[in-house]
Amino acid sequence: MTGKGNEPRQAIANSLQEWQRKEPIVTSQKFDSKNKFDPKNIEKLDRPERAQWQSITAFLEILQPQSGMTYADIGCGPGYFTLPVAERVGPKGQVYAVDLQPEMLSELAQRAEAGGLKNIKTVRCEERRIPLPDDAVEAACLANVYHELEDTPAFLAELRRILRPGGRLILIDWKPIETPMGPPLSQRIPGEIIGQALQQAGFAHRQDHDIYPYHTLIEAS
Ligand SMILES: C[S@@+](CC[C@H](N)C(=O)[O-])C[C@H]1O[C@@H](n2cnc3c(N)ncnc32)[C@H](O)[C@@H]1O
Repeated sequence: MTGKGNEPRQAIANSLQEWQRKEPIVTSQKFDSKNKFDPKNIEKLDRPERAQWQSITAFLEILQPQSGMTYADIGCGPGYFTLPVAERVGPKGQVYAVDLQPEMLSELAQRAEAGGLKNIKTVRCEERRIPLPDDAVEAACLANVYHELEDTPAFLAELRRILRPGGRLILIDWKPIETPMGPPLSQRIPGEIIGQALQQAGFAHRQDHDIYPYHTLIEAS
C-alpha cells in the first residue's frame, strides 16, 4: 500500500513547506502541533448558526447514507455529523464514532442514548491509529479534524485501511482564508495539499464539492 513509507511523507512535508514559503501567514497564534479542540468548548460546535455555514443537509446529500450502511465518523467530537447519519442508516446500520478525547465520546454517547440511537459504537483512537479492522466500513468522514492531526500520512493510510475497496471518505476542513471563527490561518491546509496527501495514501479518485463558504469538502475513494 502507498503512503506507509517515508518517501510519500517527505513529499507531502516538502509541498507543505513550499506552500508555506510562498504564502507566508501572519498570525499572532503560534502553530501548536498538539493543538486539539478543547472539550470545554463543545458549545462552540453546537451553535445554531453553524447550520448556516456547515449545513448537515448539504453534507447528507453528498454522503447519501443508506439503511444498513457501515460508517465511521473519525474525530466525531460530540456528534454534529454522527447523530444525523446514525438516524439515517437505521437499526441495521453500524456507525463507529471515533475520537481521541474520551470527553467527546462520553458526550456523544449521552446524546445517542437521549436520541434512542442504538447503532452507534464509540471507539477511542490513538493519534496515528484507528482501532477498527481492515475494510470495516463503506464510508467515513473526517470533519474539521485534518488540521489537528500530527501525522497526516499515517492517519490517511489508516483511513484507507479501514475503508472497503471503493469505500468513500468525506473530508471537510477549514479553507485557508480569513473567517469569522475557526482555527488560526497557520493551521489550515489548502485543498490542493490535502488532495496530494490523499493520493499518496492510496485514494485514487477525488471530487471537490464547493458547498461550504468556509470549508473545503473533498470526497475521495
Ligand atoms: C474541531 S473538533 C470537530 C468535531 C466534529 N467532527 C465536528 O465537526 O463537529 C475536532 C475533533 O477531532 C478530534 N481529533 C483530533 N485529532 C484526532 C486524531 N488523531 N484521531 C481522532 N480524533 C482526533 C478531537 O478530539 C476533536 O474531537
